Amino acid sequence: MTPPGALDALADLDDLAEVGRDRDRGGYSRHLWDDAELELREWFRARATALGLDVEQDRNGNLWAWWGQPGPGALVTGSHLDSVPGGGAFDGPLGVVSALEAVGRLRRSGVRPERPVAVVAFAEEEGARFGIACLGSRLMTGSVDPARARALIDGDDVTLEQAGRRCGFDTDGLGPDPERVGWIEQFIELHIEQGRGLVDQGSAVGVASGILAHGRWALSFHGQGNHAGTTPMSDRDDPMIAAAQAVLAVQRVAGATSDGRATVGRMSVVPGGTNVIPSEVRLWVDVRSATDVEVRSMVAEIAAEVGATSFRQESWSGAVTFDPDLAARVAGVLGDVPILPTGAGHDAGVLSESLPTAMVFVRNPSGISHAPGEFAEAADCAAGVAALETALRDLLR
Ligand code: GLV
Ligand code: MN
Ligand code: MN
Ligand code: MN
Repeated sequence: MTPPGALDALADLDDLAEVGRDRDRGGYSRHLWDDAELELREWFRARATALGLDVEQDRNGNLWAWWGQPGPGALVTGSHLDSVPGGGAFDGPLGVVSALEAVGRLRRSGVRPERPVAVVAFAEEEGARFGIACLGSRLMTGSVDPARARALIDGDDVTLEQAGRRCGFDTDGLGPDPERVGWIEQFIELHIEQGRGLVDQGSAVGVASGILAHGRWALSFHGQGNHAGTTPMSDRDDPMIAAAQAVLAVQRVAGATSDGRATVGRMSVVPGGTNVIPSEVRLWVDVRSATDVEVRSMVAEIAAEVGATSFRQESWSGAVTFDPDLAARVAGVLGDVPILPTGAGHDAGVLSESLPTAMVFVRNPSGISHAPGEFAEAADCAAGVAALETALRDLLR
């Protein structure tokens, strides 16, 4: 156990190594308000409190740890604690533990900021439980309707409202929080890189220039459920066939673009019996590209090809360009590290519509992410913490 006030980001990740381990899929499954995610929230409260920070939860379920009185002019850093199903150890938590450590170091080194500083852990960043990525930051900035959020359902048909109630969180308060957004003068999110950009450029850390446009669409295909043994092939209305053709269409449409990406990563078969012709197949498509127009046109092409019974947008994030002055300032103070784009979504992208935000990336040797093989070297994680500390120190000058 690390003594209070002397936190260490890598020791913290080690402390969390057993929380939410997914024995079936490998890696971690930590989803909004499940046992693992609630344990991570308790851990965050304890760690931040040990550092001398004041912890509060906002109306949208995001956790804040304040150094100084919450209010205008705040310099905020952090990321998220939740994961995709079977995700890696770093996507999210690395940014939170690094933020806590960087802020802890600034405190110990005698910095006396003239404005508030906070570490934040945003809720449901991956959207793995309720389908909308960056839900906590989107609710805060007002880009998701709270009534829609309360009615979202998870894979077990539990609504977000019910899920909140089960853990004592009242979702009646969900909604835009302009006062809090107005407090944030800059937000910096540290994150493991989710590609090989920094490996290719030979740098332990880098700064983000922007994020690809991306969104999620839920498709369903209906047919006639029936018996696998008694129904002749000529007499079937099997929605699995149309769903399989849709998967191929998604691949074909994205494959014909220069840098578009489209993925079917989730599918559910109703009722899901080996000896049952399905009555319905649902699948989810994730589409990304450099511009909003490119994504929209890929989606239109997919929709025209697949003939789904329903085709519904679940979430949308327009292309992001991070504040170029802040990116240049952070990259400069880190010794002119690379500035590079990413295809992954982040709360920093959501906040960038409202205020100057920047991201610090930590090298990922294989580029693997959203999978158990996600990895960063200890030395690169340490370089990430040092970079974040340097950037925060510079912004507090
Ligand atoms: C989240 O990490 C995403 O990019 O989907
Ligand atoms: Mn992620
Ligand atoms: Mn992430
Ligand atoms: Mn993300």
